Amino acid sequence: MRRSRPGLGLALALTLASAAEARDPAVDYMLECQGCHLPDGSGATDVPDLRDGIGRFVRVDGGRAYLVQVPGSSQAGLDDDALAAVLNWMIRSFGPAEVAASFPPFSADEVSRFRTGPLVEVEAVRRELVQRMGAD
Ligand code: HEC
Repeated sequence: MRRSRPGLGLALALTLASAAEARDPAVDYMLECQGCHLPDGSGATDVPDLRDGIGRFVRVDGGRAYLVQVPGSSQAGLDDDALAAVLNWMIRSFGPAEVAASFPPFSADEVSRFRTGPLVEVEAVRRELVQRMGAD
């Protein structure tokens, strides 16, 4: 029996591997995050909608730490540099637009400082931050 196109799987694997090596945050998002957050950031039942939401956290005290410490971020199989790039990409892609245009981007150093372990009280911390944002 002939083997079925062995070259194709290898070519695909190499393409994915070199894409990941190039550290394209859009690719990292696709591989590591969008399974739960979906390609458009809209999320699901227990996964918050990132659209017009994720950037609001950078404006409140503790918000930048939260974005790094939330388990999906802190536990990701990405180094600090790549996680910083994905978070910056997410904020720029999902907004809100005025934050995306002006926020100081995450650096690998900042991510490493905050990435001390996953948050345990995620819901409580998130609730408090949302309260600090005001009406929304
Ligand atoms: C297994 C599902 C899953 C994966 C994969 C995942 N997340 Fe999440 N993410 C969640 C859930 C659920 C929440 C809500 C907070 C919580 O309960 O952890 C969340 C919340 C967040 C938040 C805060 C948004 C908010 O409004 O509170 C950020 C930032 C985030 N994730 C980043 C990431 C990044 C970056 C990745 C990929 C490296 C990722 N997540 C992968 C499930 C996931």
